[in-house]
Amino acid sequence: MKGTGSCQVCGGVVTKFLDLGTQPLSDAFVHPENLGDEFTHHLLVGCCVDCAMVQLLQAVPRELMFGEEYPYYSSGSRIMQAHFSSTADALLDGIASDDPFVVEIGSNDGVMLECVARRGVRHLGVEPSGGVARVAEAKGVDVRVDYFDIDTATSIRDEHGPADVIFSANTLCHIPYITSVLDGVRALLTPDGVFVFEDPYFLDITEKSSFDQIYDEHFFLFSATSVQSMAARNGLELVDVERLQVHGGEMRYTLARPGSRTVAGAVAAAIAEEAAAGLTSPGRLVEFGESVRRIGNELRSVLEELRDRGCSVAGYGATAKSSTIINFAGIDSSHISHIYDTTPSKQGRLTPLSHIPIVDASTFGTDRPDVAVLFAWNHADEIQSAEAAFGESGGRWLTYVPDVRIT
Ligand code: SAH
Ligand code: TYD
Ligand code: ZN
Repeated sequence: MKGTGSCQVCGGVVTKFLDLGTQPLSDAFVHPENLGDEFTHHLLVGCCVDCAMVQLLQAVPRELMFGEEYPYYSSGSRIMQAHFSSTADALLDGIASDDPFVVEIGSNDGVMLECVARRGVRHLGVEPSGGVARVAEAKGVDVRVDYFDIDTATSIRDEHGPADVIFSANTLCHIPYITSVLDGVRALLTPDGVFVFEDPYFLDITEKSSFDQIYDEHFFLFSATSVQSMAARNGLELVDVERLQVHGGEMRYTLARPGSRTVAGAVAAAIAEEAAAGLTSPGRLVEFGESVRRIGNELRSVLEELRDRGCSVAGYGATAKSSTIINFAGIDSSHISHIYDTTPSKQGRLTPLSHIPIVDASTFGTDRPDVAVLFAWNHADEIQSAEAAFGESGGRWLTYVPDVRIT
């Protein structure tokens, strides 16, 4: 088995520390009438010995993951809508220009840019998945259906001029060709512009053992330490960081041209915290791997026990994340009969490889199972408050972050 790879940031050696087994494309929900060969890959995670960037050992070709049928719609969570509305306000309030231009990488269904558009500000979303991009356009958002890289960035600059802010949420970690993206950021940004991006934070992932954040699309698992080094290597400077509660724990990073902004104290504080936690020390990574295996085994045994006792068990949230835990733990439709989800593009389909049917979440109240596995654990507050009747009528939630627990 391959134990090393080449770092996408610095070219150094990436040493494997976690094997998550054979996995499908996490968002490739299958039409029951189209069952056939499904793409699989071996999900191996490593850490660069030179720049501490945690990353997959092998990238899945982007055209297999993103495109017309990409089924994830960012506006499916009201909490995320509110988060991106306040993000848009904060980004716009930080711009001095009279005619600002905002670019978003991975604008999806326009959840953030619709707030920018409503304020009459020039903007452009760069989004390769045509289905979600059209939903954004219908909200009045300007979109270029494309992958962001140096060529796209140069052409945007030629057409629209430089960007005061480039923003990206839950997308930068999806892009292995990161050097081309950062070249593009430098080409597109005004002299004092900022590049703000937010992604799952590796410190949260290790603290919560939330290893389901690792899947084909999540190529990088960033930290302040690795992002600072990546920025410096690519002619940018990490000038601020902010921890976010959304999606189970993220970090928002602000990059600027070196010397153009004061570096906030939060940067050194986060790097010191990561060092104190030994975030990417061999011992810590081994410990993380042990927790991952323990949680996978515990989840499977609990589900087997529930099945043997004749309990009805369903899932809640057909997340991309769930494909990691389902396939790693060897879960199938004998353990979980179906998964509830509010997303129309997922309903009526089967989970990739494990083939668990996905049904409309509006039926959860009427045909409730004894136990619901909360695959969308990052939206626990929103889901459990909307589905309060489930617990009140005796239903139990099964969660596995940070531990396998029935509540
Ligand atoms: N920003 C949204 C969407 C995250 S999902 C949110 O936070 O909810 C990731 C998105 O990135 C998908 O819509 C995918 O199509 C898009 N994407 C993938 N590679 C990209 C690239 N190179 N440039 C721009 N967008 C990309
Ligand atoms: P999410 O955890 O945001 O992302 P990922 O797929 O990247 O792991 O996915 C949340 C899923 O849960 C999405 O398919 C929509 C669904 N969902 C519900 O069914 N009900 C809800 O109330 C919410 C917030 C989400
Ligand atoms: Zn490296």
